[in-house]
Amino acid sequence: MIRDQFLSMRIFISSILRRTYGNSFSRKMSIDIGGMRLRYKDKDDTFLEKHLVSKEPFGQFKAWFEEACTKKEILEPNAMCLATATKDGIPSARFVLLKGYGKEGFKFFTNYGSRKAKELDENPNVAATFYWEVLNRSIRIEGHIEKISVEESTTYFHSRPVPSQIAACASYQSTPIESRDILCEREKVLEAEYLIPQKEVPKPEFWGGYIIRPRSVEFWQGQRDRLHDRIKFRKPKNGETPDGKLLHQGEEGWVYERLSP
Ligand SMILES: Cc1cc2nc3c(=O)[nH]c(=O)nc-3n(C[C@H](O)[C@H](O)[C@H](O)COP(=O)(O)O)c2cc1C
Repeated sequence: MIRDQFLSMRIFISSILRRTYGNSFSRKMSIDIGGMRLRYKDKDDTFLEKHLVSKEPFGQFKAWFEEACTKKEILEPNAMCLATATKDGIPSARFVLLKGYGKEGFKFFTNYGSRKAKELDENPNVAATFYWEVLNRSIRIEGHIEKISVEESTTYFHSRPVPSQIAACASYQSTPIESRDILCEREKVLEAEYLIPQKEVPKPEFWGGYIIRPRSVEFWQGQRDRLHDRIKFRKPKNGETPDGKLLHQGEEGWVYERLSP
């Protein structure tokens, strides 16, 4: 409480100083947003082991994802932050849209020439994170990536609106381009070739899908007192057997454990 008041006071003083001394002042200091915090779920709304709807991660993912889809405040429940890394371990992250999930894994589509795809070529390890703010929930997936079949990519490509298909053909994702006009020019040429005569747009070879094959999936729910709940499903290490205390037997080759927040 006293700390909150202290932080609000600091933010107030900073804003006065900035107004008085202008940008030269703000350039010299970092902006303190330490007072920004939300209240998460109350103590009587915890996420306990008995609340798991499934003892393997896909069933649990389905339950939380479907709940996220019912919330009108969440416009893109399928948006996930995808992290990749070079072979030297230098990471990069960006959002992509989840386009399918099931026991086999989590699917998304992109340009196979993009930065992420180049990193995936040299290092198949990925991590993906969902955050659904109004539910105070996050899901973390870690695993490795595989390309999905050309047939499946083609079927999905043709299910997209035609302007999106054309945009995928026009963009050499992640490469520098001189101006937006060049993109629009490419789009115009492709529209004349396919959109106006209503011809099917061929899926470019450089575009397709990936599937994340998870080795761990963690379910996080934020609590007001910051004693958050974390239940992680993972594949057991060689020779590891659940003791029913720290490590629990799941289903379909999975074990699960509660992690400290
Ligand atoms: C909400 C959201 C969803 C996105 N979905 C995708 C997607 O499904 N596929 C994709 O290639 N890029 C998507 N993007 C764009 C990427 O974040 C990124 O700019 C692009 O893939 C290039 O990333 P890279 O240079 O790291 O390869 C999305 C961006 C946002 C903000």
